[in-house]
Amino acid sequence: TPIAILISGRGSNMRALIDSCARPDYPARIALVLSNNPDAPGLEVARAAGLEAHAIDHRPYRRDREAHERALDAALRAAGVEYVCLAGYMRLLTPFLTTAWAGRMLNIHPSLLPAFAGLHTHERALESRVRIHGCTVHLVTEGMDEGPILGQAAVPVLAGDTPDTLAARVLRQEHRLYPAALHHVLAPRTAPEPHETDCLLSV
Ligand code: GRF
Repeated sequence: TPIAILISGRGSNMRALIDSCARPDYPARIALVLSNNPDAPGLEVARAAGLEAHAIDHRPYRRDREAHERALDAALRAAGVEYVCLAGYMRLLTPFLTTAWAGRMLNIHPSLLPAFAGLHTHERALESRVRIHGCTVHLVTEGMDEGPILGQAAVPVLAGDTPDTLAARVLRQEHRLYPAALHHVLAPRTAPEPHETDCLLSV
């Protein structure tokens, strides 16, 4: 299945998806990487992996978010994309794009939704003294971080954690969860059973 990955920054979740898509038994191939940020380090990572990777800068469209999304949508369709994975894509989407890709656009969020939607999830998890934290892959709908949950991975919050140490523990699980959840969406019958190891992964 041809997919696109949308990024804004370093692209480590994109990297995890690139690695999975390189496996012959994985049901997706990456047709396109797009970024709203021309300086996203992930664009170079994608090109180094031999992928087509473009920036469609949002700044010239400041007064018309939907026009930016029409440009993204045109690029996705021109590349024959069937599913879109948001991976650290830091722009809110309008109903134009969420409707156009309803059921075919995934996002990864660094918390166990519905807790801690939005930004600064690790700081907020520490402030609220939860003992279990994690990440969620969900379908994208109009409401931010609100769509149906496809999979989650949990990590413990440890004594002495800082937002950075907690973020790093969650990020390792994001890199397992995203490929697993996408596999489950595209080809549930060939997807490996979720397993318990150092953390709980459920898709
Ligand atoms: C990840 O924590 C992801 O969950 C959030 O933004 C971060 C992106 O990191 N949406 P990366 O660009 O994939 O390294």
